[in-house]
Amino acid sequence: MPVGPEKHDVNLIEITDISFSYPDGHKALDRLSLSIASGERVAVMGPNGAGKSTLFQMLNGLLRPNAGQVVVDGLPVMGENLPSVRRKVGMVFQESDDQLFNNTVYREVAYGLANMKVPQDELDATVKWALDMVDMRDFIDKTPFNLSGGEKKRIALASVLCMKPQILVLDEPTSALDPKSSAKLVSLLTSLNHDLGITLVFATHDVDLAPMLADRVVLMEHGSIQFSGTPAQAFREKDLLHRLDLRLPHIAELAETLMNDGLLPAGDLPLNIGQAVALFKRALTACGDKEPPNVARASW
Ligand SMILES: Nc1ncnc2c1ncn2[C@@H]1O[C@H](COP(=O)(O)OP(=O)(O)O)[C@@H](O)[C@H]1O
Ligand SMILES: [Mg+2]
Repeated sequence: MPVGPEKHDVNLIEITDISFSYPDGHKALDRLSLSIASGERVAVMGPNGAGKSTLFQMLNGLLRPNAGQVVVDGLPVMGENLPSVRRKVGMVFQESDDQLFNNTVYREVAYGLANMKVPQDELDATVKWALDMVDMRDFIDKTPFNLSGGEKKRIALASVLCMKPQILVLDEPTSALDPKSSAKLVSLLTSLNHDLGITLVFATHDVDLAPMLADRVVLMEHGSIQFSGTPAQAFREKDLLHRLDLRLPHIAELAETLMNDGLLPAGDLPLNIGQAVALFKRALTACGDKEPPNVARASW
């Protein structure tokens, strides 16, 4: 089973000073170091070409660094450790079609365990457990290829969950999903982290999603890490965000406009709806039934 629900301080992933160039000579990672604790939820953000997908492939040894070291749960990601590492690190690719290749959902989800010659009754039970986790049990006999983008993503996730990973690495998991599927995936990932203690590492361009799902935001550019901190700290890095083609979450932009217009007291920007509601409630309560401040000066 994955590690328990308690978060603790041991670093599950230790990436030390790794560099990597593709065979054509393109340097995709440049002396990058990153530690991730067990149970953390880390969003990796940065423009296309920053090296996010390359970094992720280092975590289960699909690619090997030219220099530096990657260690997962105490195991250097290399050689005879690779099968153990790959059981610990579940990888959900950006394109579900790159991941799904069996003609039924059952076979797709069972694939990894079946290769490990797990007894049939244990295999059946684990496949059903994984499909229940992603709320897709009814699809067990269907072919994965005709499913919607959100359904394919959940099947890909179930096939990875079957291996009971400690770490889920998801490359732009919501990029091809409609808003409802995206919200469902976010709540599923939140419960996998909360209930099973699974460490989450995901790449995203979605600045509205990152503060909902991440404890930490890592900002990448040109194959190295430019910033690592809480979402609140990351979204204070305005110049860097601008340089990396990222913007503030919409709700923060709204609050910032209202603060600039004197309609909200200056302070930390809310990054999600819950924080915004709390801020607006405080401001409205402070107003009481007085005239709202500075409405006449508002620029809209
Ligand atoms: N197979 C490859 N061969 C050569 N260069 C590649 C290959 N894959 C990616 N790259 C280059 O490496 C850099 C990092 O790519 P990638 O890790 O995919 O970035 P991201 O996921 O942040 O968009 C990019 O400049 C990209 O063009
Ligand atoms: Mg990528």
